[in-house]
Amino acid sequence: MKNLKQYKEKKDLLNTLAQYLCDFSEEAINDHGQFNLVLSGGNSPKALYRLLASNAYKNKIDWKRTYFFFGDERFVPEENVERNSRMAKQTLFTPLRIPTSHIFAVDTSESPEKTAENYTETIVTHFKGNPIAFDCILLGLGEDAHTASLFPNTSVLKETNAEVVSVYVKKLNSYRITMSAPLINAAKHIVFLVFGQSKAKAVFHVLYDKKGSAQHYPAKLIHPEKGELFWFVDAEAMEYSNMKK
Ligand code: 6PG
Repeated sequence: MKNLKQYKEKKDLLNTLAQYLCDFSEEAINDHGQFNLVLSGGNSPKALYRLLASNAYKNKIDWKRTYFFFGDERFVPEENVERNSRMAKQTLFTPLRIPTSHIFAVDTSESPEKTAENYTETIVTHFKGNPIAFDCILLGLGEDAHTASLFPNTSVLKETNAEVVSVYVKKLNSYRITMSAPLINAAKHIVFLVFGQSKAKAVFHVLYDKKGSAQHYPAKLIHPEKGELFWFVDAEAMEYSNMKK
């Protein structure tokens, strides 16, 4: 089930999404005593993370019962400016004084393959052997319609196991660590957060281009098995779709 929510004003989008996250956290904590949240990287979520850490929302989520994971990570050392975990630390973890015991960052000190195996193991251990189903996974969208680090024409798009995998991304000349589509699709709530005109064609291809393949537009792979899918998109990112639909 896809919920498409488009907003002219970024602040309206962010406040609505922040409230959804509060609701998801309450539902999760009431159900199983914790809120397992997967963060996305890049620039789009920074304003959301800052808003969640602001006076408006910092007391609306039980952070003591919230556990943070990453949908993907760049294969670089922890303090590298490219790290998604470094961005999350600056915008969310430090302002909210989240203890490291609640943050599951990707340890990139071993090979890409071993890193992915270790992160999968970390997740399995956290879920205590129960089926892995994150309460909420935040995702961004690249101009090439990648999401997490599921890039077009890469081998990881064919991954059928719900696990974390490593992938060499030729066009970036770098390795990435990413949750596979099946692992993302096992989540209870999946939320795309997309801003800006530069993403408009990618949004159209993913949401409305029936001929387009997931190989070319990987975000097409994201369909929750049992959960809900949300798209929070600003007017600029919807421009092309609204014109073509
Ligand atoms: C990453 C992200 C990636 C991101 C998109 C959009 O590691 O970069 O996980 O999937 O969400 O590339 O990035 P922007 O929000 O910076 O446009």
